[in-house]
Amino acid sequence: MTPGHMSDHYSALHARLASGQAQVGVIGLGYVGLPLAVELARAGYTVIGFDVDAGKVASANRGENYVRDVDPGDFATVVENGRFRATQDFADLGAVDSVSICVPTPLSKTRDPDMSFINAAVDEILQYLPAGRLVVLESTTYPGTTKEFLLPRFEAKGWHAGDEVFLAFSPERVDPGNSAYKTRNTPKVVGGVTARCLDLAVQLYSRAVDCVVPVSSATTAEMVKLLENTFRAVNIGLINEMALMCDRLGVSVWEVVEAAGTKPFGFMKFKPGPGLGGHCIPVDPHYLSWKLRLLKYRARFIELAADVNSEMPGYVVSKVFEGLNRFHRSVNGSQIFVLGVAYKRDVGDVRESPALEVIELLQARGADVMYNDPFVPAIVVNGRPLHSIDLTMDLLRGSDCTVLITDHTCYDWDSIVSSSRLLIDTRNATAGRTADNIIKL
Ligand SMILES: NC(=O)c1ccc[n+]([C@@H]2O[C@H](COP(=O)([O-])OP(=O)(O)OC[C@H]3O[C@@H](n4cnc5c(N)ncnc54)[C@H](O)[C@@H]3O)[C@@H](O)[C@H]2O)c1
Repeated sequence: MTPGHMSDHYSALHARLASGQAQVGVIGLGYVGLPLAVELARAGYTVIGFDVDAGKVASANRGENYVRDVDPGDFATVVENGRFRATQDFADLGAVDSVSICVPTPLSKTRDPDMSFINAAVDEILQYLPAGRLVVLESTTYPGTTKEFLLPRFEAKGWHAGDEVFLAFSPERVDPGNSAYKTRNTPKVVGGVTARCLDLAVQLYSRAVDCVVPVSSATTAEMVKLLENTFRAVNIGLINEMALMCDRLGVSVWEVVEAAGTKPFGFMKFKPGPGLGGHCIPVDPHYLSWKLRLLKYRARFIELAADVNSEMPGYVVSKVFEGLNRFHRSVNGSQIFVLGVAYKRDVGDVRESPALEVIELLQARGADVMYNDPFVPAIVVNGRPLHSIDLTMDLLRGSDCTVLITDHTCYDWDSIVSSSRLLIDTRNATAGRTADNIIKL
C-alpha cells in the first residue's frame, strides 16, 4: 500500500496513533476494560473510559482500584496526570480517535449469544463517533461477529470498512489474579476487516503491549480466542473424566497427574476440580458451538467436555455423602462448611462458580450450609442470600463436614485438616497429608 492510495482518514489516524497524540476510548471498565485503559494511558495516550455503571465511573475517577489486576500505583498515576478519566456520557466519543469495546458477552438462558451489550455500545458509537475512527471489539464472541454483525451496522450508515470506519477484533487474554502476565507482557492478537483496519489496530496496541500478533482477518482473531478457551474447557473436561475413572479404579488422580507431569514433552498438566467456573471457560466454547450449529456442524468435543464438567458439582456432593456415611450420618440435617466460593484461587469472582451449585445441591438435600471466602462477602444461592462467616477452627469442629471448593492461598491447611471432622478436598490442597478424615476427588 503506498501513501498515495491511502484515504485521508487512514493517513490522518495513522499519524495521530503513531505520534501518541491520539485520544483513545474504552467502553466497559470491568476486568478487561480497566486494565486495558490504564495500560493505554501508561503508554502515553489520553484515555477516556466509558461505562454505564455510575459506581464504577466514580471509583475509576478517584483512581480506586476495584479490579485487583490493576497496579494501584499505575492507576493512581494515570488519574492524577490526567491521562485517564471515566465517564457515563457517551457524547465524549466525539473526541476519541479509537474505541475498544470491552462489554460483557454472556449467554442467554437458552445458551445462545447475548449480543445486547455489544449492540448497546455500538448504538452509542454510531450516534457519537465521528467518521474516520478505529473501532476494536475485544469482547469474546462467535467467529464472524465483527464482519457479519458489527460491519453491517456501520454500512447501514453509509460507512465502509477501511474508509469511514476501521474495524478490528482483538481478543482479550487477561488471566485474573495472574501476577506474571498482565496486559503489557501478554501478546495481543489482532485481526482487521481490511488491511488498513489491521494496520491501525496494530498501531494502537503496539504502544501499550510488548508483542502484537497480526492475523489475516477479524474472524481469524475471533477464532484464535475460541481455540484458546475451548482448549482449556476440553482439557479440563478430560482431566475431570480421568478423576471419575480413577475413582472407580481406586487410584489417586492427583498422583497420576503429578507423575504424568514429569514428562518433559508432549504433555501439559491440567488439574481436576469441582467444575468449571469463571466468566470465560464455561461460556466461550458455547459461542463457537452456537455458530457451528448454524452451519449444520456439531462441535462434539465442546459438548462432551461440557457434559463431563457439569457433572463435577454432583460428584463433589457424592463425596460428601460417602464421607458422612462413614459416621452414619445423612446430608439431611448435617452442618456443612464450604471453604472458598470464588471460581478460582485468590479472586473474588463467583460467576459460574461450581461452589454455587454444590451449595444448592447440598441445601436441596437438607444440609445446613455455611461458607467462608475472604474475597466474597456474600452470594445468592437459589434466590437466597448467604454471607461469608469468619473462619474459626471452632466452627469447623462443630461442623459435620468441611467442603473445600477454592484453595485460596491464605488458608492454613494444617489447622483446617486438624479441626475438620471430615474434609472433602476438591483441589488437592492437602497434598502430602494422609489424615483419615480427608477425602479427595
Ligand atoms: N474477565 C476475564 O477474565 C476475561 C478474559 C478475557 C475476555 N473476557 C471478555 O471480555 C468481555 C468483558 O468481560 P469483563 O470480565 O471485563 O466483564 P465485566 O462485567 O467485568 O465488565 C464489563 C463492563 O461493561 C460495562 N457495560 C455494560 N454494558 C455497557 C455499555 N452498553 N456501555 C458501557 N459499558 C457497559 C459494565 O458496567 C461493566 O463495568 C467479555 O466479552 C468477556 O468474555 C473476559
